[in-house]
Amino acid sequence: RHPGWPARLGPLLTERGAVSLRPPRLRDASAWSRIRLRDRNYLQRWEPTAVGSWQERNAVMAWPAQWSALRGMARRGVALPFTLTVDGEFAGQLTVGNIVRGALRSAWIGYWVTEALAGGGVATAAVALAVDHCFGPVGLHRLEATVRPENEPSVRVLEKSGFRREGLFRRYLDVAGAWRDHYVYAVTAEEIPDGAVAALVRSGRARRP
Ligand code: ACO
Repeated sequence: RHPGWPARLGPLLTERGAVSLRPPRLRDASAWSRIRLRDRNYLQRWEPTAVGSWQERNAVMAWPAQWSALRGMARRGVALPFTLTVDGEFAGQLTVGNIVRGALRSAWIGYWVTEALAGGGVATAAVALAVDHCFGPVGLHRLEATVRPENEPSVRVLEKSGFRREGLFRRYLDVAGAWRDHYVYAVTAEEIPDGAVAALVRSGRARRP
């Protein structure tokens, strides 16, 4: 255990429904696999290259090992692995990773949302919930996100949730089979004294229940 884990965050209301974050469960297997297999074309081009076929890596039987790896990282205090739900149904994942404490108190954030619910502010609401949790109970000071310049929806998510572009990492990550340039975005706690959720609600992009 570490500060801020386990946690349930939300809900926050969006056009697509009520967005919440909770720890992953073993029984997420079937929904996770069904969506990941169905959304392959939409997801694969943005995801880190990995060993094995998409089919194998995203089969129902692949979930227990993933779930257990995520749980292990959460227990060691190096990650906050969330299942993202909309109206209580599995809709994607949001992970805060590489949590470093000490004088850095930083981590990265990453996410995906099923194509069926895209474009309705779901990812932005989830990021805002996670940012406030990280700067609150978790006690972090800086969050970073790396995104390919071509990934316009994800760039928008970061801009809408208060992240600033800090630079361009050249040939940074092996994504969809090649070394890809990534923008690095970041936000520090001082920049959003009232929190990311409050700012999102003020902008009219989400509502509190
Ligand atoms: N070109 C430009 N903008 C677009 C496009 C497009 N083709 N499609 C959607 N958008 C905009 C939307 O209009 C919206 O912006 P707006 O509110 O200004 O209109 C924005 O992109 C999307 O915002 P949300 O609705 O909050 O996000 P959504 O719930 O659709 O999820 C996400 C976005 C997570 C990027 C989703 O598309 C996804 O899962 N993609 C595949 C996986 C992925 O790329 N994950 C992110 C990797 S980078 C990282 O994790 C830091």
